[in-house]
Amino acid sequence: MEKIVILTGAGISAESGLGTFRDEGGLWSQHRIEDVATPEGFARNPGLVQGFYNARRAQAAQVQPNAAHRALAALQRDWPGDVVIVTQNVDGLHEAGGARDVLHMHGTLAGALCASCGHRWAAPDDMKVGEPCTDCGAPSGRPDVVWFGETPYFMDQIYDHLAKADIFAAIGTSGQVYPAAAFVHEAIAAGALTVELNLAPSAVVSNFDETRFGPASETVPAWVDALLGKR
Ligand code: APR
Repeated sequence: MEKIVILTGAGISAESGLGTFRDEGGLWSQHRIEDVATPEGFARNPGLVQGFYNARRAQAAQVQPNAAHRALAALQRDWPGDVVIVTQNVDGLHEAGGARDVLHMHGTLAGALCASCGHRWAAPDDMKVGEPCTDCGAPSGRPDVVWFGETPYFMDQIYDHLAKADIFAAIGTSGQVYPAAAFVHEAIAAGALTVELNLAPSAVVSNFDETRFGPASETVPAWVDALLGKR
């Protein structure tokens, strides 16, 4: 049965109330990436960075999954083949919407990481400067989020899934950040049908066989219905 690989970005969580990064008024118009999303920024001002992620963690805890998250969970449940969700998002809305085995390539707000020993644990609501590692005790706790210049997680698994994809869909991502923006090329090399679901054309829209424009809460359920109805 056909294998479906899905890449999601901030746009799938926009209608749940979480800001995107590069839309009008987005997170990167409020904060400088180099200050809050790089290891250098964390070293320079850990309080600013912990505060930035504490605020995002608090906001993510207050919002609900939307129809797009729920539709992808339904696809995982009802599609007879493999459905793999790879997300750039650090919120937990895919899981809250019923999805499973989601590959968070940029980490998660819910996770804490020790910069000294590599231990991971469930992040407290608020992480402080010098947050003690729950294993080695070093004051090295940081958000388990992949910053610019760091290596995204699960890349070997992701490329393996892409090499076997029959359908690849990119949902709510601007296609401006690599390596995620190049996943469509891996899918094309695998002979997959490629679909972009977005509010507006992404930077890599020309690589896609099909496009479905509109808010994810409308386009994703319609796409899933078409797939399941087609079956
Ligand atoms: N429905 C569907 N798409 C939407 C919606 C919506 N309601 N609202 C916005 N979008 C689309 C925008 O058109 C845009 O293409 O979501 C995309 C958001 O793009 P970005 O803000 O760049 O977010 P993303 O692509 O996820 O960023 C990738 O960049 O800063 C890093 O680590 C961060 O994971 C993030 C990565």
